[in-house]
Amino acid sequence: MLNDQFGRQFNYLRLSITDVCNFSCSYCLPNGYQCDTPRNFLNKNEISTLVNAFAELGTKKVRITGGEPCLRNDVTDIIKLCKNTRGIEKVAITTNGFNLLKKIDEFAEAGLDALNVSIDSLNPSMFKLITGHDKLNLILKGIERAVELGIKDIKINAVLAKQFNKNQLKDFLAWVKHHKVTVRFIELMETGDGATFFEENHLSGQTVKAQLLDQGWLQVVRGKLNGPAEEFCHPDYDGRIGLIMPYSKDFCKSCNRLRVSALGKLHLCLFAEQGIDLRELLNEDDTAATVKAIRAAMGNKEISHELDKRLTGATTHLAMLGG
Ligand code: GTP
Ligand code: 5AD
Ligand code: SF4
Repeated sequence: MLNDQFGRQFNYLRLSITDVCNFSCSYCLPNGYQCDTPRNFLNKNEISTLVNAFAELGTKKVRITGGEPCLRNDVTDIIKLCKNTRGIEKVAITTNGFNLLKKIDEFAEAGLDALNVSIDSLNPSMFKLITGHDKLNLILKGIERAVELGIKDIKINAVLAKQFNKNQLKDFLAWVKHHKVTVRFIELMETGDGATFFEENHLSGQTVKAQLLDQGWLQVVRGKLNGPAEEFCHPDYDGRIGLIMPYSKDFCKSCNRLRVSALGKLHLCLFAEQGIDLRELLNEDDTAATVKAIRAAMGNKEISHELDKRLTGATTHLAMLGG
């Protein structure tokens, strides 16, 4: 198992397979994705070498992210190859859901275990305002289909922002009453080009937590290896509510994940600017050297991103590393 000097264990790889996205969410890519040079993302062979190396190091779960991972036409093959890697027990994807209804049957067939979909509002016109796309109902149909197919671990990610917070909690609570799905509210994080949006919109998840506890929701005890999200359940509701509060003091204490960018750089934290380039090793199909390079990098993982202290200065690449 991969460990760091602070006693944390890393059993979870978040693998970005493209940094391109077709949505233009106001807090993330308000002007859409612009890139002048063609991008040479990791191919399936390189991904296979990488996932094998992580599996050798004790990784049990791979989450495929982007950008928007469904923009790659080999996304299903990538799910399959991760699922077929010895040692990998769980394969997940985080998507904006635009193509979910079309793809979810083949994802399930490929062995997908878990699905996270970004939906910041259940109000179709607000959804369009946030993302630039009128796709809410299509995305909800994709989720219904995932439930039908028996995918058990389904989560909705909703970013907390003053601009779209009106009725957000009320609408999602009504929805999880009859949907066995977890809705997770994420505190807005500051990005390089989203400083003004952040200043005007940041909300603490603690206010949501207080409302939940007030309404009889109970905090679920989660294992150390389940990561930093907090979760809540209620006897009258089929689904759950979660909170991701990176501005809370001890958030990073339960960090269990490492990230690799679509260009093959290992990032020890979402906020680690400099990645460690694994591309050459992956290109040479050198699993042993990749294992060694990952292990050697662990000494540089810092104890915390300290967002609670600095409140400014996040990197620009949240979208590129799948949030
Ligand atoms: P599971 O626990 O596997 O469901 O996943 P997750 O929370 O890692 O998955 P997802 O890709 O849906 O991430 C949800 C959001 O949580 C991300 O978009 C980030 O905004 C935030 N997040 C996830 N991991 C981290 C992290 O390590 N640090 C910080 N600061 N934020 C994170
Ligand atoms: N702050 C918080 N969450 C963000 N995401 C993207 N940018 C940010 C940000 N600045 C989230 C998206 C999506 C996930 C992949 O990342 O809402 O659910
Ligand atoms: Fe795309 Fe996701 Fe960023 Fe929205 S949050 S612009 S869907 S990467």
